[in-house]
Amino acid sequence: MPKSEWFAIPKGYNAPQQVHITQGDYDGKAVIVSWVTPEEPGPSEVFYGKKEKQYDQKAEGTTTNYTFYDYKSGYIHHCLVDGLEYNTKYYYKIGSGDSAREFWFETPPAIDPDASYTFGIIGDLGQTFNSLSTLQHYEKTGGQTVLFVGDLSYADRYEHDDGIRWDSWGRLVERSTAYQPWIWNSGNHEIEYRPDLGETSTFKPYLHRYMTPYLASKSSSPMWYAVRRASAHIIVLSSYSPFVKYTPQWWWLKNEFKRVDREKTPWLIVLMHSPMYNSNEAHYMEGESMRAAFEKWFVKYKVDLVFAGHVHAYERSYRISNVNYNITSGNRYPVPDKSAPVYITVGDGGNQEGLASRFNDPQPDYSAFREASYGHSILQLENRTHAVYRWNRNDDGNNVPADTVVFHNQYWTSRTRRRRLKKNHFHLEKLEDLISLF
Ligand SMILES: [Fe+2]
Repeated sequence: MPKSEWFAIPKGYNAPQQVHITQGDYDGKAVIVSWVTPEEPGPSEVFYGKKEKQYDQKAEGTTTNYTFYDYKSGYIHHCLVDGLEYNTKYYYKIGSGDSAREFWFETPPAIDPDASYTFGIIGDLGQTFNSLSTLQHYEKTGGQTVLFVGDLSYADRYEHDDGIRWDSWGRLVERSTAYQPWIWNSGNHEIEYRPDLGETSTFKPYLHRYMTPYLASKSSSPMWYAVRRASAHIIVLSSYSPFVKYTPQWWWLKNEFKRVDREKTPWLIVLMHSPMYNSNEAHYMEGESMRAAFEKWFVKYKVDLVFAGHVHAYERSYRISNVNYNITSGNRYPVPDKSAPVYITVGDGGNQEGLASRFNDPQPDYSAFREASYGHSILQLENRTHAVYRWNRNDDGNNVPADTVVFHNQYWTSRTRRRRLKKNHFHLEKLEDLISLF
């Protein structure tokens, strides 16, 4: 069991630990507060209010627990705090007596096309020195909410300590997760299909510990869902749940794209774990089946950005698509496409599997920037037309962004730009033309 202060168990009998919050509704007026009590269930209550130490409101949650092989979890609490006001700082308290603990969070601005907001993007975090470094660097950026692209604790890598490592990861990330929402997505390390241990129910620890507001977006599973926050519509997809045509995830996404209103939320962002475009030797082509299922919609609905993890390196694409690919005729390679998203892989949070340092050579034309270093990304939505994006590598600290791009909104800027374009512009393939797409 890790003994470092970064994983410390809070003082006091049965003190709440592993505190984390996530958005609790579709539009950002609710949070779900989650925590674990180790010894006994204790109260599942959140006391909260707008003034420090003055908790004039109370919400009641539920308690669950689970077993995994020979591990028995603590008591896991989930409490929906709703009816909140936008743009407001709330203080909250959980636990009782000497063991009570206090935190705070800030609600986002109301849904508005010009609401500015800053997201952090973190993936494949784990619980190493590099994981801590990523968290410390992220904290200096002013990020208000984390979009997490899967592979949380890597507990499954610690053969006989799975549950204990889930607990220690929860304590490590609490420094951020207790104070701002993390929008959760799962990765392959959350599957935990272990028939050899008698554990055949997939995603068991993840689903018990990390809640998502999936019902608010009419999803039938916590594994895929959507939230709207400030000027962004964020769609979370599960790489390891069925997604081919006619599956529940496929139906849900088809309908969710129809609910996107770019007049209200101009920024359309998709999260997944396994990247659709990846020129690293690690996990090469693993996202191809989801690309075949969903890329057409990404282009049709002009998704702005697709963030993924999984590959332990950083890569950003140009706007390209391969929607004309078919097995008998037509293009069989990605081409520049102004309606296509930019694909970004940020699987470099810092887990103990190490970096994926072998990229395919030469770098394909669609790949704009790639590097095997630990880090995280920041997406600063300025208004309906512009966003400033940067990737920070841990080695440089937060003052030296290693990759910086200004993104123009796919909906609002294309409305004026489209008139100027000739049809055949989309078939240019030279690198200079790719670059000009920005
Ligand atoms: Fe992964």
